[in-house]
Amino acid sequence: MTRVIGLKCRECGAEYPANIQSKCNKCSGQLDVQYDWGYIKEHISKEKIAAGPNSMWRYADLLPVETGNYVDLGAGYNKLHHAKHLGEAVGLKELYIIDESVNPSYSFKDRVTSVAVTKSIEFGVKAVGCASTGNLAASLGAHAAKAGLPAYIFIPATIELGKIVQILIYGSHVIAVDGTYDEASRLAGEVIKLHPDWAFINLNLRPYYTEGSKTLAFETAEQLNWSAPDHCVAPMASGGLLCAIARGYQELMKVGLIQQKDIRISGSQPLNCSPISTAVQTNSAVVPVYNYKTIAHSLAIGNPAEGYYAKQVIQSSGGYAATPTDDEIIEGIHLLARTEGIFTEPAGGTTIAGLKQLVEEGYIERSEKTVVYVTGNGLKAQDTLFKTLKQPVTIKPTLSEFEKLTNDEEKRWG
Ligand SMILES: Cc1ncc(COP(=O)(O)O)c(C=O)c1O
Ligand SMILES: [Zn+2]
Repeated sequence: MTRVIGLKCRECGAEYPANIQSKCNKCSGQLDVQYDWGYIKEHISKEKIAAGPNSMWRYADLLPVETGNYVDLGAGYNKLHHAKHLGEAVGLKELYIIDESVNPSYSFKDRVTSVAVTKSIEFGVKAVGCASTGNLAASLGAHAAKAGLPAYIFIPATIELGKIVQILIYGSHVIAVDGTYDEASRLAGEVIKLHPDWAFINLNLRPYYTEGSKTLAFETAEQLNWSAPDHCVAPMASGGLLCAIARGYQELMKVGLIQQKDIRISGSQPLNCSPISTAVQTNSAVVPVYNYKTIAHSLAIGNPAEGYYAKQVIQSSGGYAATPTDDEIIEGIHLLARTEGIFTEPAGGTTIAGLKQLVEEGYIERSEKTVVYVTGNGLKAQDTLFKTLKQPVTIKPTLSEFEKLTNDEEKRWG
């Protein structure tokens, strides 16, 4: 007996065994993992979760794996911070942050990768791979190293140096494509056809892979004493993260771990690459964008795989979508660091700037208990951020030089 029954097409309902497959043979719709909810309800409990590991694997009963041999570097079960100062700054009474910059490879992608590489081992594949805007690549490199599998990683050549160094250090095979993420992803899709015994975790393993992000909802609810917030805000690139967070809360209601509740879900994308947010704002179809350029490299996907569904989740929940400019994204990074001591990369800046916009424009009410997901670490984007900061002064190591500086530069300390 297992908790996974198979895969099912989101569009036409066609069912498939739980193999390596992401698209429906009949209509090309996306496939989702189907669970045996009766089985899960019998096995899951708050006590069992509390006695589980201090990682996302404490929620294994809601994840699509069969064995207990998790490829686990310790991702997840991150602290839910009560963000009083940021709350005051943006005008919210009760604001919380899940800080994903502290995961093993410093982004939320460790959740999806940990599930997908565990699944790759179960399927007995020869190698893993992905197309990535940077964080997924680094995370896959780390988890593939832990699992002893080779990793083939396709990235746009223009992403931040910090991410490229990180991917290389794990020994991954890095293919830097002279083009956008969408072009790298298309190429990776062609490579899969040549290597059917490789698992490209966000392409042919996508149904299993996206499930890892549900744990963000699970651990938020657990730390809110098994209750749900009123409003969540997440960054969007493919839209997969936002959809998984919404699904995570729904599943907790389905198995009876939290009470039924309407939760509003809002998203944020950089204005310069915002196909999903623009579709929400204009209430129109998600139209792919080309020739985009933003400092939020990790969110720069012009043709989002789950854009249509992310828009539906946002609109049906009563949420909205923000589109901060690159300057506002930088301000968001500075604001979070200075109010809460959390250093995030531009994806996190997009979320914080988006949160601010949504409150200012009345899409989040000031009394709503709000959770914001900060998904990546600022140290990965030093090349972008250093030039936005007041530079340090260099002095000779004497007290008189310091005092001179203090007198001359009073404003500097102010
Ligand atoms: C730090 C960070 N946050 C958010 C996202 C968006 O995730 P998704 O593609 O699931 O929407 C990404 C995607 O790469 C990311 O790297
Ligand atoms: Zn179908």
